[in-house]
Amino acid sequence: MKALVINGPNINMLGLREPQIYGSQSYEDLLNLIETAGKEYGFETADHYQSNHEGDLVDAIQNAYGIYDGIVINPAAYTHTSIALLDALKAVGIPAVEVHISDVSKREDFRQISYVRKACIATISGEGLDGYKHALHLLADYIKHDAQA
Ligand code: DQA
Repeated sequence: MKALVINGPNINMLGLREPQIYGSQSYEDLLNLIETAGKEYGFETADHYQSNHEGDLVDAIQNAYGIYDGIVINPAAYTHTSIALLDALKAVGIPAVEVHISDVSKREDFRQISYVRKACIATISGEGLDGYKHALHLLADYIKHDAQA
């Protein structure tokens, strides 16, 4: 069982970026959390990929086909704009969980739309970096039980 955690634009700026919204932990801290949580939930590998470019994120989803059993994705600002990411997730058909560090439901109107949500088995929002842990847990359960059914 292999997972890929994909992060979109500006997530590499964690710690520096609006700490009152995204917290003071760094992207490096997030990568450590992903590695630990991946092992805890039984993933052989929990790899990660971050890009500030939409097409690169599409490529990462396409390249996951045949390799990864599940995807955790925080598309960041592309959540609210990208049909290309939605289509890529649908194309590969890999179970995916959408994550947002902040509670997007309580923020600006333009953050209320999520295109990728339509291709995800669940959305986790407002749990800080622990949301990635929660997402890996859900994904592991889904792959072990539901995906086989
Ligand atoms: C975010 C929320 C998005 O609206 C924003 O553009 C981000 C991060 C989050 O993790 O809370 O960059 O996805």
